[in-house]
Amino acid sequence: MGTFFQLVLLGLTFASVLPPDFAWGTAIAAFQVEGAWNISGRGVSIWDYFQDFPGRIYDNETAHIADDFYDRYPEDIKILQQLGIHNLRLSISWTRVLPAGTPENPNSAGIQFYNDLFDALLAAKIEPYVTLYHWDLPQVFNNLTAQSTWLDPDMPNKFNAYADFCFSTFGAKVKHWVTMNEIMSFAWQGYGWGIAAPGRCSPSVGSWCEQVGGGGNTSTEPYIVAHHALLAHGLAVQTYRQKYQALQKGKIGLTINTRFHLPWDSSNPDDYKAAQTAIAFSYGWIGDPVVFGRYPEEMTELITGNRLPEFTPEQSALLKGSFDYLGLNYYTTDYAQWTGEIGDNYWNDGRYNVSPYNKTGHLIGPTAQSSWLNVYPQGIRGILNWIKNRYGDHEIYVMENGVSDPGESQMSEEEALNDTFRIDYIYNHIMNMVDAIVNDGVRVKGYFLWSLIDNFEWADGFNTRFGITYVNYSQNLTRAIKNSGYLYQSLIGYLGTHS
Ligand code: NOJ
Repeated sequence: MGTFFQLVLLGLTFASVLPPDFAWGTAIAAFQVEGAWNISGRGVSIWDYFQDFPGRIYDNETAHIADDFYDRYPEDIKILQQLGIHNLRLSISWTRVLPAGTPENPNSAGIQFYNDLFDALLAAKIEPYVTLYHWDLPQVFNNLTAQSTWLDPDMPNKFNAYADFCFSTFGAKVKHWVTMNEIMSFAWQGYGWGIAAPGRCSPSVGSWCEQVGGGGNTSTEPYIVAHHALLAHGLAVQTYRQKYQALQKGKIGLTINTRFHLPWDSSNPDDYKAAQTAIAFSYGWIGDPVVFGRYPEEMTELITGNRLPEFTPEQSALLKGSFDYLGLNYYTTDYAQWTGEIGDNYWNDGRYNVSPYNKTGHLIGPTAQSSWLNVYPQGIRGILNWIKNRYGDHEIYVMENGVSDPGESQMSEEEALNDTFRIDYIYNHIMNMVDAIVNDGVRVKGYFLWSLIDNFEWADGFNTRFGITYVNYSQNLTRAIKNSGYLYQSLIGYLGTHS
């Protein structure tokens, strides 16, 4: 059936059942798009520092210029308007507003930038959803030891001061706050495997971690990091609720990444256990503390020694219920196999292994440009149901979902604009999300596509493109909407109402 007729049917079927204020949006993050890294008083972040070591980033690229969103955001706002997208998730660069990390000496040019940006969005009837921490911690907090960055027990207070500053400075304009983006990602990538800032890992993982004061303890530091990030989130929510929420009438939460997992051998009950454990070790790691005020039993039972920190009763009370909505970043699914063995990664701590192949050698779905991303659209429905079943009927936002088309960076611009891989991905994921809402009663309030524009994909540099808008990196950063952008526009139109 042609996509047009599919869309008409879709519209007739679902238009009236999505919540009237359902938020359709796209997402970006400061470090990945802004550029202007040393402009108008911006301070250095751990990612500015990390990316400059040779061998860290694909082709040794840097995000110094990135998409130059700093100067070109008016163009990007026009694209949102053209496509009928009324919500943009973006992040604040901590060091652009507070170059020294602390609120004593704010940077007026940085504050002006975000005020102008929020004003421009609101004037275009685009609602900003603002992430406070999307991985670009001030480098002044990095003394290259196991006492600094997110390993520092005082980091939650430092983050809280920054969050307080943002609420008081931007809260009149921003009504949707996301404290933390993907705690699990920066905990393991930055402190377990050394592939993200601050690049800590054990020497057995890679000798490069020595350059940045690595020599961390692979299987311990990520748990400490996540613990501190959770407390930072809890404090910021407390601050918002005590000082700002009644007046500013906004909402606050965080976004949590996870894969969905299926059993590697569907006839083996142990592999069902592995699949459930795997979700508890990812979404549950962060979700259980903010909902229940404690870590998942799966983790407390399986993680050996005292590597998983404990919450004091006060900390537990701080975290329990510290959200107005739960965020989900979903991209992919894999198979989990019970191994019973422990080791140096969170999946080994959970006694399981993961693979995109099942026991019979079946690949779960086509592989994207990102080697970790295999396409499995039913997974979004699966994980939305998992969240509802485990936590009850909370508001949920899909804060990220999207794909990198294989080989896109090697294509001409003209070829890249016809991004059929992404079109299929978006269409099928949205259909599955709609199923979760309509057929399973999951209370999803919004969906944000990653990403509005191609951007700096961390260690993968610019070689991996996730945008529904093409950015021409060799020709003055010009933008061109890809076919997936027009598909998203049509879907929003047919699926109906949006705030
Ligand atoms: C996760 C992150 O939040 C975002 O920064 C990243 O670019 C996308 N997912 C794609 O990997």
